[in-house]
Amino acid sequence: MRSVEVSAERSYQVHCDQEWLPLLQSLMRGRNKVAIISSEANRSLIPEVNSVDAQVYRYEVPDGESGKSAANAHLLWENLHRDGFTRTDLIVGIGGGAVTDLAGFVAASWLRGVDWIAIPTTLAGMVDAAIGGKTGINTDKAKNLVGAFHSPQAVIIDSAWLQSLTKRDFAAGLAEVIKCGFIRDAQILTLLQGHTLESVIADKELTDELILRSVIVKADVVSNDFKESDVRETLNYGHTFGHAIESASGYSLRHGEAVAIGMIFVAELAVLSGMAAGDLLQSHRSLLAAMHLPTSLPAHFTDSEWSQLLASMRIDKKARGDVIRFVIVKEPGLVTRLEAPDEALLKLAYEKVLP
Ligand SMILES: NC(=O)c1ccc[n+]([C@@H]2O[C@H](COP(=O)([O-])OP(=O)(O)OC[C@H]3O[C@@H](n4cnc5c(N)ncnc54)[C@H](O)[C@@H]3O)[C@@H](O)[C@H]2O)c1
Repeated sequence: MRSVEVSAERSYQVHCDQEWLPLLQSLMRGRNKVAIISSEANRSLIPEVNSVDAQVYRYEVPDGESGKSAANAHLLWENLHRDGFTRTDLIVGIGGGAVTDLAGFVAASWLRGVDWIAIPTTLAGMVDAAIGGKTGINTDKAKNLVGAFHSPQAVIIDSAWLQSLTKRDFAAGLAEVIKCGFIRDAQILTLLQGHTLESVIADKELTDELILRSVIVKADVVSNDFKESDVRETLNYGHTFGHAIESASGYSLRHGEAVAIGMIFVAELAVLSGMAAGDLLQSHRSLLAAMHLPTSLPAHFTDSEWSQLLASMRIDKKARGDVIRFVIVKEPGLVTRLEAPDEALLKLAYEKVLP
């Protein structure tokens, strides 16, 4: 077991490579009531959680993005009220990023903020969503529009959860791992060299090492920039274009798949603007393809989507005013920004990722 400290508005440990149940039970000691929030779809994966002194309540929400709604937050507040949760009680979110985002948001808002613990069960949750203290819900119109910064007491990562994850979800999580390799820890890229998606899934030791390294990258970045003013923006590598195509695909692309294509787009842009060498682009393409991640857009994307995607990148929450900024990798571990690039250059990069 190895722990990584995140020192944001308050410090907490991310316990990696850890059996989640005994650690959760020890962290529950001294609590009067504990609410476990999970998704209905994962009911059979999560055993009963007993405690010596706490009363444990289980609340279930619909799976995925639809669970992360104001209506479900409201239902959870009603449950907490009915069951008499007070300031000293604890909320635990067990699930993918959608569940931990919702559980964290309910913890941030209940009685103006109570303690919570995140137990991510997807790779994307372990290396990204559960780390960093950003919690939130979707509105009918857009994803993650409402939320709060509210650090958990602890994050418990147990890669045993991943045994039941689909290959597609595992690969989507690997996109964020690869992102961490390009922006900061090039050793991640070296570790993945020569591997396929299947060989990574089969290698628990490698998976644990990749998770730990990615957690260290994210913990390090958010510890230096909790509220996302500057350094944290580097975690957005591949996300500006990624968010635009994720939404244009009607969310048929997994977030990680959209980020994979977004990283290719921005690597193309880096090469076209003379900020990076062709090898960098090639290493993106080969690594992502080996992990069964897309390196070009789905078949229905054509030239005619471009103006809509450009407009959507302009209103991305990471844009400043309506100036589009991209995080650029010059070489693994060396990042810079590209602000307001020439539209013709952006269009050229788009053409490179068309199917
Ligand atoms: N707060 C943040 O900083 C942050 C960062 C990145 C992403 N997110 C959010 O995370 C969410 C995406 O997270 P995700 O990719 O984990 O998706 P998800 O939570 O929708 O989970 C994906 C699917 O995996 C299933 N699942 C979960 N654990 C499983 C397991 N162990 N075995 C089998 N199936 C399992 C879920 O039921 C779901 O169907 C989005 O809502 C995104 O906005 C938040």
